[in-house]
Amino acid sequence: MVEQKFKEIQYLDRNESQYGPSPKCFEFLKDVTIDELSWYSRDYARGVKSSLSERIAADFDISEKQVILSYGSEDLLKQIIHYYLDRKERILIPKHAWWYYKKVAYEVGGFNVEYPMYILEKDGLKSYYYDVDKMIEIYNRERPRIVLIASPNNPTGNKIPKEELGRFLDACRGALVMIDEAYWGFGSKDNSYVKPFIDEFPNLVICRTFSKYYALAGLRIGFAFAGKNLEELINYSVRYLGFNRISEKLAEIALDDEQYYSDIMNKMQEDKKYFYDEFRKFDGFEPYKSYANFMLVNMPTEIRKDLDSFLKERNLLIKFLNEEAFKTETRITLGTQEQNRYLMDSIKEFMNNRK
Ligand SMILES: Cc1ncc(COP(=O)(O)O)c(C=O)c1O
Repeated sequence: MVEQKFKEIQYLDRNESQYGPSPKCFEFLKDVTIDELSWYSRDYARGVKSSLSERIAADFDISEKQVILSYGSEDLLKQIIHYYLDRKERILIPKHAWWYYKKVAYEVGGFNVEYPMYILEKDGLKSYYYDVDKMIEIYNRERPRIVLIASPNNPTGNKIPKEELGRFLDACRGALVMIDEAYWGFGSKDNSYVKPFIDEFPNLVICRTFSKYYALAGLRIGFAFAGKNLEELINYSVRYLGFNRISEKLAEIALDDEQYYSDIMNKMQEDKKYFYDEFRKFDGFEPYKSYANFMLVNMPTEIRKDLDSFLKERNLLIKFLNEEAFKTETRITLGTQEQNRYLMDSIKEFMNNRK
């Protein structure tokens, strides 16, 4: 029997980092000053939103005016949809995506139109793909006000190649296009397209967060790059009294410690390979290629309930999806190497017990 390794529940169900942020963030917290706690920042008076937006703008060679800061990227999603989607207008969203997208349009009386993805197997591993031709066809038919793409997408883990993205952006210049890149950094750290696309497509907004790659979900900091036509959104999201000074500082410290985060990403890449190989050894299991910090795995329906209970007894929580687009799939958040091996050993034990 696999020994009980963890005394507390291991939450491998919410795509949070199990490694935690750069240790330098904790060092900073020990030295927080009274000013940082009791004073507003003076950044607005300097003509910028914050030192963080300045920093991001410099890193990406984009005007600070076009960088938006927010309370996590959930806040960006809400601000964008609430600001731009009028009653009875449509937003195009992926069918196989984060359930949360499906709810925001209704808050403002709008409608969702869903576009499908397709699945292909390459080198023995299945993956979801964006079907850009189909998306353009649906866009032309439905004429939505907003189009949403998630890359990498949750929970399927796939991303859209930049050439395909460019082709799509070119075809839907009449809509506001939001790209949710909350899971940027885990499978690819390409940033080369950000500036050219923001310059070329004035209705584009690319949203990112410090919650996933930078392991700072509790801070609630998101940011976005907005094209030149989105000035109203930018003005709407500005906060005259500034943002959370401690969070800004922690985010900047995280940006400085790229080595720490790269090491984690490399470990995760190793663990994804390990999961792909191990899951494919079980009958009826199908892992999907992932560019994120989680992995979608299709499993036989009949084992779901028992496996869930078995893992819970071992203090392991993974997400057995049960929604319209995902009835038999499970989403596993990649943990530390220790957690991942313990999870896999536990699943093996469960499967062996069933023989
Ligand atoms: C696809 C996707 N986008 C955005 C978010 C929001 O993250 P945050 O508000 O922490 O930036 C999440 C959170 O899980 C997510 O899965």
